[in-house]
Amino acid sequence: MPVRHILILGGTTEARRLAEQLAGQSAGRPADRPLRVTSSLAGRVAAPRLPAGDVRIGGFGGPAGLAAWLREQHVDVLIDATHPFAGTISRNAAEAAAEVHVPLLALRRPSWVPVSGDHWYPVDSLAEAAAALPALGRRVFLTTGRQGLAAFSELTDLWFLARSVDAPEAPMPPQTEVLLDRGPFTLDGERAVLREHRIDVLVTKDSGGAATAPKLTAARELGLPVVIVRRPELPPGVPATPDVPGALAWLAALAPRT
Ligand SMILES: NC(=O)c1ccc[n+]([C@@H]2O[C@H](COP(=O)([O-])OP(=O)(O)OC[C@H]3O[C@@H](n4cnc5c(N)ncnc54)[C@H](OP(=O)(O)O)[C@@H]3O)[C@@H](O)[C@H]2O)c1
Repeated sequence: MPVRHILILGGTTEARRLAEQLAGQSAGRPADRPLRVTSSLAGRVAAPRLPAGDVRIGGFGGPAGLAAWLREQHVDVLIDATHPFAGTISRNAAEAAAEVHVPLLALRRPSWVPVSGDHWYPVDSLAEAAAALPALGRRVFLTTGRQGLAAFSELTDLWFLARSVDAPEAPMPPQTEVLLDRGPFTLDGERAVLREHRIDVLVTKDSGGAATAPKLTAARELGLPVVIVRRPELPPGVPATPDVPGALAWLAALAPRT
């Protein structure tokens, strides 16, 4: 059966790129074989970069709500292209897709890999990152996003530079300077941030991808320790691809004539 409606769970660069590619395919389809491409955003960012095609914003109401949406909107294929740390929506996607019998693919950019000269301290959570910090430095560059700063709020002796797209949620550590910025970031820019703020330790999630990787290079150059939060596992049984060409190939194999 031809694929007529693809839902992309988005909020990432890869999701936007995939939507753009599929919207291009959609434009080239004959009128009797239309292809609808919908991207779904959580609505966390005040002014998101909108993908091509249809866009819906806001939660579905758990796995049951997502399953209902898939049914009502006649979605044939679901692509979970959310951020590697958006674990709840990925679990919801797996549950809903299984319930509605819709093929599901996870589009996950690869993890970052340490290279010679890196001093990485892998941890499993923001709480573990907070516990590791006092032994590693006093001036912390925190790049874990606007949520979850509460995990560091007891660290009253440390100074934090917290970078996020929108203002972070309270509570946060008492000595926090907020830096509102959105990637991609450059190596020169990251060097400048580390130097100007006399950073002596970096905290990041293992988000992967090129857009936010320069901070790792800048930290390596300065010999700074990096506390890196490991990713949550993908739900079991969900096929995954690391990039947009992989997702397009998976779609083509799924429905060769669409
Ligand atoms: N976590 C990060 O570090 C990070 C970084 C960059 C971008 N993002 C993007 O930001 C969004 C939210 O991330 P999160 O970590 O807060 O997610 P999460 O914890 O996995 O999801 C929490 C809830 O937010 C809703 N939601 C999440 N992604 C959605 C989407 N694409 N479309 C519709 N609803 C969505 C769902 O609500 P319902 O249960 O009501 O459906 C979900 O249960 C994701 O789309 C992700 O790609 C996250």
